[in-house]
Amino acid sequence: MTTQAPKKPVIVVGSGLAGLSAAHEALRAGATVRMLDRAPKPGGNSIKASSGINGAGTRFQQSLGIAKDDSFYSDTVRSAGARFAESSPPVDRKALIEILTSQSESAVNWLADELNVDLSVVAQLGGHSVPRTHRGGGKLPPGAAIVSALLDALKANSNFSLENSADVVELLSGDGAVKGVSYQVADGQPHELEGPVVFAAGGFAGDAHGLLSKYRPDLAGIPSTNEARPASHGLLSAVRASFVDMDSVQIHPTGFVDPKDPGSAYKFLAAEALRGEGGILLSAEGKRFINELQTRDVVSAAIMALPHTTVEKTRQWEVTLLLDPGACEATTSHIGFYLWKGLVQKKKVRDLAPEVIASVDKYATLVSENGEDELGRKAFGHWKLPPGEANRDEEVCVGTVTPVVHFTMGGVTFDSQARVLRPKEGGGLVPIPGLWAAGEITGGIHGANRLGGSSLLECAVFGRIAGAEAAKSLTNA
Ligand code: FAD
Ligand code: SIN
Repeated sequence: MTTQAPKKPVIVVGSGLAGLSAAHEALRAGATVRMLDRAPKPGGNSIKASSGINGAGTRFQQSLGIAKDDSFYSDTVRSAGARFAESSPPVDRKALIEILTSQSESAVNWLADELNVDLSVVAQLGGHSVPRTHRGGGKLPPGAAIVSALLDALKANSNFSLENSADVVELLSGDGAVKGVSYQVADGQPHELEGPVVFAAGGFAGDAHGLLSKYRPDLAGIPSTNEARPASHGLLSAVRASFVDMDSVQIHPTGFVDPKDPGSAYKFLAAEALRGEGGILLSAEGKRFINELQTRDVVSAAIMALPHTTVEKTRQWEVTLLLDPGACEATTSHIGFYLWKGLVQKKKVRDLAPEVIASVDKYATLVSENGEDELGRKAFGHWKLPPGEANRDEEVCVGTVTPVVHFTMGGVTFDSQARVLRPKEGGGLVPIPGLWAAGEITGGIHGANRLGGSSLLECAVFGRIAGAEAAKSLTNA
């Protein structure tokens, strides 16, 4: 009698949203999954996500009165800018954006219906023509809600295992294909695991002295929302994967300057939803200077054109983020946390500087008359503060913010089946057998600028594709 060799697992490197989504689909396809993460706890940067996940055409959008949303593809292309217009792109940007945007509704439905994540609140972030960034109405931020729901579902499946503090140090290869991984755990001993690999190890915005200084030395000294962590892209280079847009690094316009530690190189993010739900930005002179709902690259550039300061070794700009009572209320769960951390203060309008009161009154007049903003802002979120004496005893929320290194648009090249690509003889790119990727490690979708809410989305959409494809490779083997 012959005994069948046990089926190899799908190996998932990284326990952020891309890895968790891949694991979910691989399990659904009947595979066993071994997930490895070098961090002591799961969730990566995904667990910190604060504004939400994009979806076009969802029932949550419809309940806001948006009957149809067919501008997500064009908004994404516009945001990607010149990178998208390249004559011979190294990856099929059009196909990737088409998949991202057309599968956004099903990604949101998957999380809401199968995993019971509350995504019923929808905000309009910068560069979006309509509100489409989904989060929950409760206290839990969207990243934590999504990650914990997925982890619970995965842990309930006996075919799933997660090992933390397991650092993948090499992709094992033979005959031009990836065959598995080598990893180290606390004992320092090398371990090997064979199987198809989904690489979901995140971006390099926290790798200040490594890839970031290689590709964007000009960003030295700018604080970051990413905790320091070395990038894992070298493991992909070692199997000759190719990379795209590596110098496209996103500067988010608003990281909080903590009054208790103003020079810190690590900043808490002031979620874009704060502006989306009605917040405005004011210069040191107390004046609005930019449409706060422009894309992040445009808002950051406008702030960085203002005079900057250097605190300790950190380069920062220090503008005021101000929310009226309507915007504060619409973001209560965020604001509660920021107040508790001392990053935001509540102040009566009458206690603000005279030039700030003048700007608040001017903006409140614009909103109350639904007028034309000289800076081009068209959506005012939940702003309800009236202009003039009537507002003097109302409380607004104020914090100091500065641009921060936040996200890396560049990464490994991949295709619509989430297969990692390498150069082929004679030109062009070809998939590396046995290797898939998803999430921030990949490049080519966002071009020069990512829209807020589209990272969680790419993790869910391409993570699910990668997991399903990796599992399929086992049944086809
Ligand atoms: P991650 O979630 O970063 O996970 C990667 C994992 O891989 C990590 O746990 C890491 O330890 C592990 N890893 C790396 N190398 C190895 C290795 N060699 N061996 C084993 N494990 C390894 N995006 C949105 O769309 N909406 C938001 O609201 C939003 N808010 C954000 C707020 C903050 C503060 C930050 C920092 C980012 C935010 N983003 C948001 C961006 C988004 O969260 C991330 O880009 C996205 O979650 C990345 O997911 P990922 O799965 O690709 O990687
Ligand atoms: C934020 O909350 O501003 C971050 C959203 C994102 O990075 O997509």
